[in-house]
Amino acid sequence: MFETTRLRLRRPRESDVAAVFAYRSRPDVARHLSAGTWTLEHTSSELSLYARAQFCGPGDELVLLVELLETSEVVGEVGLVWLSDGSAEIGYVFNPDFGGKGLATEAVRAILDAARDTWGFARVIATTDSDNEPSRALCERLGMVRVSIQHAADRPGVEESTYATPPLREPLASAPDSVPGRRCVDECRE
Ligand SMILES: CC(C)(COP(=O)(O)OP(=O)(O)OC[C@H]1O[C@@H](n2cnc3c(N)ncnc32)[C@H](O)[C@@H]1OP(=O)(O)O)[C@@H](O)C(=O)NCCC(=O)NCCS
Repeated sequence: MFETTRLRLRRPRESDVAAVFAYRSRPDVARHLSAGTWTLEHTSSELSLYARAQFCGPGDELVLLVELLETSEVVGEVGLVWLSDGSAEIGYVFNPDFGGKGLATEAVRAILDAARDTWGFARVIATTDSDNEPSRALCERLGMVRVSIQHAADRPGVEESTYATPPLREPLASAPDSVPGRRCVDECRE
């Protein structure tokens, strides 16, 4: 669906279950994720939902797997949730075996570009635990700024930080469908 210098971002397939389970089952990866670690069965059912989910309006979620162009290995995933105010919330989970090379930064940059150019979102936010240093560093590397600090609604005692891009475009004055260039990802499934 999208390509960068080193990566391809695409819809999940059934054959991706083992590669995604390899990192989603790791406690160190799940440490800051409210969903916790995933079983093999849960990984399989989540991927089949992601494979057919549409991304056309508020409440929709798009999750794309990130693979290396060179070897086709799956290294992680990025997601966008369509919010009701003309913005989107980004999420990202990567396999630490491929960490420290800027791959997550490259993938998130691509999805931020698509958020602006493909879907016309006015801005993108990211909410991360305040003590999740790699995640906060990623946001800051991409020019996002911290706009609020709050208690996590679903995890007592956990402090979260919300980061936001500078405005990507003028806020929408009309219905999302009328934005030039905005398209439903349903149309571009592989
Ligand atoms: C958040 C997460 C994706 C960050 O992973 P990461 O490996 O730090 O990120 P990147 O792949 O962009 O790599 C960045 C590192 O590569 C280095 N790097 C090397 N080449 C680079 C390049 N071309 N561009 C950018 N950074 C580069 C950076 O300096 C940085 O190194 P550092 O960690 O020593 O500072 C990862 O920690 C993760 O998946 N965590 C678990 C899930 C999670 O908590 N998600 C967030 C929930 S909100």
